[in-house]
Amino acid sequence: MVSAMWSGEWEIRWLEQVDSTNSYVRDQARQGVPEGLVVAADHQTAGRGRLDRRWESPPGANLLASFLLRPDCDAADAHLCTAAVALAGADACGELAGVEPLLKWPNDLLVGDAKLAGVLAEVEFEGSALAAVVVGIGINVAWPGPADAGGTCLDDVRMTAQPVDRRQLLERVVAGLTRRRTLLDAATGRRALADEMRRRCGTLGRTVRVTLAAEEFSGLASGIDDAGQLLVETAGGTRRVQAGDVVHVRPS
Ligand code: BTN
Repeated sequence: MVSAMWSGEWEIRWLEQVDSTNSYVRDQARQGVPEGLVVAADHQTAGRGRLDRRWESPPGANLLASFLLRPDCDAADAHLCTAAVALAGADACGELAGVEPLLKWPNDLLVGDAKLAGVLAEVEFEGSALAAVVVGIGINVAWPGPADAGGTCLDDVRMTAQPVDRRQLLERVVAGLTRRRTLLDAATGRRALADEMRRRCGTLGRTVRVTLAAEEFSGLASGIDDAGQLLVETAGGTRRVQAGDVVHVRPS
């Protein structure tokens, strides 16, 4: 371990190298470690993205971090943990780099149409009850991702003179998550979080192309329901998308 520190209720462990910060934190969650563990790494040898993809990042380039949450909510609300971390990440980028990324459903941060960050949430159950949610975020700081992926990084879009420091960025994400954390435990708070997510989601109002395992369709993204599903207005009616690949279609 490179360093360990406490920031309020959070224990931050910064590792030189790990397979995946999400896998590490999941393992800790299964061993009963309480909420509040934050693990960041300079390098991941097997970083994971959504839909079983890999998440690549050269050593020391980007922020790679995972949070252990044990919210008092049902599994159906776990998607709001993703939203809380994504919103905290967006705030942190605004505070340190002067850029205001929008959320892309379900869990990316975009600057314009370029991906700045991705979030991967994984749930742990005890019987049928939600025991933990592990939320990992990868924010591109100095490397925009693979050349063919259309990503960007803070170094390319920042409005500030100084490059963004990854440790300071993590501290700001932690602060943003701290501001939202208690919202997850009560219905009124969860509604407020869902509303903030809808307000800051750049997918709404856009034409999107949705790719599911067995089909593809396009339509207008009109809303996000309380279960976190994207509502898409198509020629055949409203479709609800639970998980899938969504691309914002450029206006022609
Ligand atoms: C995605 O957009 O597909 C989600 C990417 C999530 C990447 C982060 S990096 C830190 C954490 N550890 C992982 O293995 N993945 C997440």
